[in-house]
Amino acid sequence: MTRRGSPLVAPRVLVKGLGFPRVAPHSASVSPALSSPLPSTLDDDDAVLPFTPRGPVSAAVLTHLVDGTDTGHTALAELAVMASVDIERDDDLQLALFALYASAYGAFPAFRADLEWDPSLITTRRMIETTFERSLRRTVEVPELPAPTADAVSRALFALTGRDAGPSLSRYLARKATLDHAHEFLVQRSVYTLREADPHSWAIPRLTGRPKAALVEIQSDEYGGGRPDRVHAALFARAVRAAGLSDAYGAYLDDVPAVTLASHNTMSMFGLNRRLLGAIVGHLAAFEMTSSIPNRLYAEGLRRLGFGDDVCEYFDEHVEADAVHEQIAGRDLAGTLAEDHPEMLPDILFGAAACLEVDDRVGRHMLDAWSRGASSLRTEDER
Ligand SMILES: [Fe+2]
Ligand SMILES: [Fe+2]
Repeated sequence: MTRRGSPLVAPRVLVKGLGFPRVAPHSASVSPALSSPLPSTLDDDDAVLPFTPRGPVSAAVLTHLVDGTDTGHTALAELAVMASVDIERDDDLQLALFALYASAYGAFPAFRADLEWDPSLITTRRMIETTFERSLRRTVEVPELPAPTADAVSRALFALTGRDAGPSLSRYLARKATLDHAHEFLVQRSVYTLREADPHSWAIPRLTGRPKAALVEIQSDEYGGGRPDRVHAALFARAVRAAGLSDAYGAYLDDVPAVTLASHNTMSMFGLNRRLLGAIVGHLAAFEMTSSIPNRLYAEGLRRLGFGDDVCEYFDEHVEADAVHEQIAGRDLAGTLAEDHPEMLPDILFGAAACLEVDDRVGRHMLDAWSRGASSLRTEDER
């Protein structure tokens, strides 16, 4: 539930002129629904945060992360998690959690580095993520557990990810999407993909032996195998620039709904909590297993709409790369982790099922909006 209309605690940074400005007007070539598609000047001023709060909790969290003033976000979060009817779709709480994770990633220079481990910010994060995790464990359907062997776990993950979950975003992109839909698709994807692979990298030091080697093998590809121009996040940045959009991280945060933030928050929560190691491994396995064919269809749709190789290269790259990654992730990563640590098997399956469910919600949100002739992005009224 959002708490639109509730009083917004004005961040002090606004007073200081560092606040949360709306960004540049859009160009004619992209959807009018987008708030800032022009190549952005956001990084001209690291002190500027490219998005705005969505309620009292996110306002107080942003204020603390930017200028160090604690205006009572923990108490606000406590009230908000109790009042929220659906934390997975709660704009204020999802944005607050997103910002708290962004502090750990170093995603926004405006967030003070010395506040990463601030006790009250960590308390607020724990409060929101505990409720979020509880909600996911209630709403995500986890399949029956296989035997804890590499083969059985790999087979179970392929069976889970191979299920047809209904209307397909990638098929829609391939055949029916308009230019506006394609731009919205890139905007929705930008929250994760401009930082692709980072949430799963938190698992590297927590693994040992076979699963560690498998994860590093995958991540090495994701990070370009030693070539900065081949880093997948950089390929995606090139794609959005070539499509006339901004590649500045967070440029479109105000445009994306809570379900998109929740998708990113799910993997950040799994990655940043050592006790959820199985879940982040399962998440990556499901992610890789549902990538190759959809990416082929995305590229097909983008070419149908007239986009060139500079936009499609990111998607082309994933057709082959993820056909390999899914094998490594299923057997060598998730499978061997289950063999070495059978106690993690339930969370491996939970993480995989959660990945499918939260990403499916984003896809359904887009398809629902488009089937109504509406935008999948947040409207002015929703802000
Ligand atoms: Fe990738
Ligand atoms: Fe991959």
